[in-house]
Formats: sequence, structure tokens, C-alpha cells
Amino acid sequence: MERMEDEKPKKRVTLYLLYCVSTAVIGSLQFGYNTGVINAPEQKLRRFFQNVSMERYGEPFSPGTNTMVWSFSVAIFSVGGMIGSFSVGALVNKFGRRKSMLVSNILALLGGGLMGLSALSRSFEMVIIGRLIIGAFCGLCTGLTPMYVGELSPTHLRGAFGTLHQLGVVIGILVAQIFGLESLLGSDALWPVLLALTVLPAVLQSIMLPFCPESPRYLLISLNQEEEARKALVRLRGTEDVSNDIQEMKEEGMKMAMEKKVTIPELFRSPKYRQPIIIAIVLQLSQQLSGINAVFYYSTGIFDSAGVSQPIYATIGAGVVNTVFTVVSLFLVERAGRRTLHLIGLAGMAIFALIMTIALSLGMTNPSLSYLAIVAVFGFVASFEMGPGPIPWFIVAELFSQGPRPAAMAVSGFSNWTANFLVGLGFPKLEELCGPYVFIIFTVLLILFFIFTFLRVPETKGRTFDDIAQGFAASTGKPTLSPVTEAVVVGEPTPMSPTEKVP
Ligand code: GLC
Repeated sequence: MERMEDEKPKKRVTLYLLYCVSTAVIGSLQFGYNTGVINAPEQKLRRFFQNVSMERYGEPFSPGTNTMVWSFSVAIFSVGGMIGSFSVGALVNKFGRRKSMLVSNILALLGGGLMGLSALSRSFEMVIIGRLIIGAFCGLCTGLTPMYVGELSPTHLRGAFGTLHQLGVVIGILVAQIFGLESLLGSDALWPVLLALTVLPAVLQSIMLPFCPESPRYLLISLNQEEEARKALVRLRGTEDVSNDIQEMKEEGMKMAMEKKVTIPELFRSPKYRQPIIIAIVLQLSQQLSGINAVFYYSTGIFDSAGVSQPIYATIGAGVVNTVFTVVSLFLVERAGRRTLHLIGLAGMAIFALIMTIALSLGMTNPSLSYLAIVAVFGFVASFEMGPGPIPWFIVAELFSQGPRPAAMAVSGFSNWTANFLVGLGFPKLEELCGPYVFIIFTVLLILFFIFTFLRVPETKGRTFDDIAQGFAASTGKPTLSPVTEAVVVGEPTPMSPTEKVP
């Protein structure tokens, strides 16, 4: 059945499909923007906190309290993200994919509104609560967007479309870095506008969403509404003949009939899901514990200690490299495959982390080596976007079929946000302890993740959701491969042997 994808690779990508995917990817843009937006206006916000304290208590905060309020405003975003990502499963099971995206925009309006009005209301609490709410919104986006996009995409383009989520994220980060410049919105007067700007994409997405269909997979497999699913598919695929898609979904639905909604504990209890959920979690951890956000949160300081004279421009340079290499990955992911790109990315990051260590340890005594720090950071970021950036976000939707997907997205998203929180909070302390050798920690972790990926992660390129799920079922020693699903493998052979056991 998948063969037909193969035989008709020119199957059209319709404008309508692009419209729907772009609408969902606005959520990714929001995640990136709110990740990047807080760095530039640090000093302005700290000053605002001091002024509020003066007005209320007649004296400024002590430097310690000020730093605490500041760190809190930064880190609480990830706490919100943990809450939001964990709620994805419950939300989509109740409202479906499309309505969940619509509903989640209420959080963006609320969070953006609170931060935007905080200066007028003379309230630093509004910044903190706003960041928490916007974090919860972004946590939802990191589950909802990849899920909706993955379910809408034709099998042979699922990786490329999945990478669009990360492209949205990196563009969001870059836009935030640029808007945050003092001459644009990063000034004393305009920082509330910078933080509130997130309401605009929320309004835009809310206007666009009603014209998108509910995910046909959700309609057919979860709600059993075949006619509705067919109508949506006809528009998305631009052809009346969608019987192949329908047939493939029905097969998946039939196998899942016994377990329509899988709960989180069941994910860990059932041997069928244990292996994919471990893979999903480790891939998400490999993304965050690679140290990428040590660079994105603290690159200006890193460049500074390596002796770079204009660190802010090097930071924006890193944002540009980040975007360019996500586009490269977008074009490679359906050719090279997810597993290969993830391995290349992890290996590249490990090597550049070592180069960064050399640059940092020698940079102070030898200023001519500062260019090496720039090369190292750019190489590190470029390698990240080859695989570890985009792939973990969308591969989770691929590793699970319809029944367990929402619970799996919740668990893996939560793991990602927790690791993000730990790196964000822990890196300054680690740097204090390890000095220029801090990136060695990430090198070691990267090597471990490389070994895990090599041994455990199957290739999912070009395979149907059902086929991937069946591959795992087979590897637990309960082969349920039907002749049909066996015939659909068009990607590279999976490295999983049928006899392989869950670790
Ligand atoms: C990924 C990560 C995010 C990081 C970004 C950098 O989306 O999840 O934490 O900031 O990539 O491009």
C-alpha cells in the first residue's frame, strides 16, 4: 500500500495542505519566540524590578533578590512548559487536535497580555505569572504542532513536514533576537511590547484554524467518522481517490481497536510500548542534554569569555546558522533518513564541543583563538540542526500509532522540558565549577546518546505508522506483522532485529 507512495512520488502537495501545516507551525514560531525573547531585555527588566521595589517599599531590592526575581522570570517558562506538554494528551483526547490548538491560544493571549501590561500596572508579578502561562502555552505547542502536522502529512513527506516545526522554532528565536535589539523593541520603554507581541501570532492562528480540517486520522481512527475523514483527505490531497490513505488508516485503526486511548502508566507497563517510549524519551533527552540551550541561553557570555569582541553579533550569527542548517536538514531528512542524520548531528556536536573546550581554555591567554570559539559554536549549532534539533520533535509521533500517541507525546514532551529546565538552571553553576571544561560534560553525554541511537533507534523514513508500531511489537517477541504491512516497508531496513528484546 505504501508502495503506491513510492510509485507516485509526485503525489501533489496541495496549497491547502501547505496552508494547514503553516497554520499549525505558527505554534512552533511561538515556542521559539518566547524561548529567545527574554535574553536581550535582561537589564531593562532588572531595572523595572528595582523601580517597582522603590515605589512599593521605598528601597530597591538587594542584588540577591533582584537576581532571584530575574532568574525566576526566566526559569518559570520551562516549568510552564512542563505543565503544558504534560497536558497535551488529556487535551487532544477531549477536544481533538484542531480545537486544542484553538483553545490553547487563550493562554497566549492571557500570558502575553499580563506581560504587556506589567509595566503599566507596576507589577513584576505579572511578568512572572505571564511567563508561566506563556510557558504552558508553548508546552502545548510542542506537542500539538508535531502531532497535527505528522497526522496530516503524506507518509513520504512526514519527515520534511515534521522538520517545519523546528524551522518555526528557529525562526521564532531569530526574530526574537533581532526584535530584542535596543534600537528595535529591546529598549526601556518598549520591552513590554516585545514580550506582548506573542498575542499577534495567536490571533492570526485563531483566524486561520477554522479553515483547517480536524486531523483525518483522528476523525477516522479515534472518532470513527469515515465520511468526515474522507472529505478532509480529498481536500488535503487534492484528489478524489483517497482510498489508499483511508485503507491504511483503517488497518491501523483495526489493530488499535482494543486500545483506543492508552494511558501514561500503560505506556510503561505494556512491553509493546516500552521500547518506543524509552527511545522517545532518550531522543528528547539527547536534544536537551546535548547542551544546545547552554549556547542559546548563554552564548553571549561564552563568546565573551573566549575573547570575542562583539559577542552580541556572534550570538545573532549563531541564530542565522541555526536557521540555515534547519533548512538543510529539511531537504536531507527524506533522503538520508532520521537515524543517520541524528547520528551525524550528535557526532558533529561532540567534536565541536571539544573544539569549544580548546577555544575556551586557551582563548583567554591567546586572543587570536577567539575565532575558534565562533567556529566551534557555529559548528555545534549547525550539527544540532542536522538531526538532534528537528528529529526528536516529530519522531515521537512516528514511533506510536493513534492509540498511544497522545500519551507518548505528553511523556516525551515533559522529558524534553524537564531537561531544558535543568540545563537552563544548572549551566551557570556547572560553568562556575568546571570553568572552560564545562563542555566536556556534554561531549560525554553526546557520545552516550550516539551509542544509544546506533544500537536502538530504528529508521522510520517512508514507513507507515502502523508498520513502525508493528516493528516494535515484533521485537517484543510477539510478531503481529501482517503480510500487508510487511510489504509496505520502503525505507532503509530497520536496525531492530525481530528477536531484539527491550533493554
Ligand atoms: C529545539 C529545542 C529548543 C532549542 C531550539 C534551538 O527546538 O527544543 O529547546 O532552543 O531547538 O534551535
